[in-house]
Amino acid sequence: MTKVTMTVNGKSVSGDVAGNTLLVEFLRSDLHLTGTHVGCDTSQCGACVVHVNGAAVKSCTMFAAEAEGAEVATIEGQANADGSLNTIQQAFQDYHGLQCGFCTPGMVMSAAALLKDNPKPSEQEVRAYLQGNICRCTGYHNIVRAIMAASGQEVPAVAAE
Ligand code: FES
Ligand code: FES
Repeated sequence: MTKVTMTVNGKSVSGDVAGNTLLVEFLRSDLHLTGTHVGCDTSQCGACVVHVNGAAVKSCTMFAAEAEGAEVATIEGQANADGSLNTIQQAFQDYHGLQCGFCTPGMVMSAAALLKDNPKPSEQEVRAYLQGNICRCTGYHNIVRAIMAASGQEVPAVAAE
């Protein structure tokens, strides 16, 4: 076992982890931050996306020990200080960007990373960025609309089915 220390959502945390403990396992099992989901075993679904030192990372692809000393942000740290939904979360609610919600934490974290690097993305850029996030419910249209709204841009019309 190795002692690992990192900052998660602004708080310093530490724990003893095996060399093969994944960051997502440490977050969920040791820290009980279960908003970060596991939807696959193949690094494809993006339900586990968190931020590590400001970059979006699939936390099932990283060992906890690799996050030693890192600044980690999870969905639990995204709300405003008063507990209200942040701009992206509110947009997901306003534009019905979720159904079952399983993919939503990863979608919100990916959207936050996108808008940090590209505050005014085109619809095509949003769609391209979300290629690493799989949603089995929504058809993506309302997720894209929510992210466009969160960026303060015109919201695309609902696509014809
Ligand atoms: S659980 Fe990490 S990509 Fe699916
Ligand atoms: S809302 Fe169900 S998987 Fe995306």
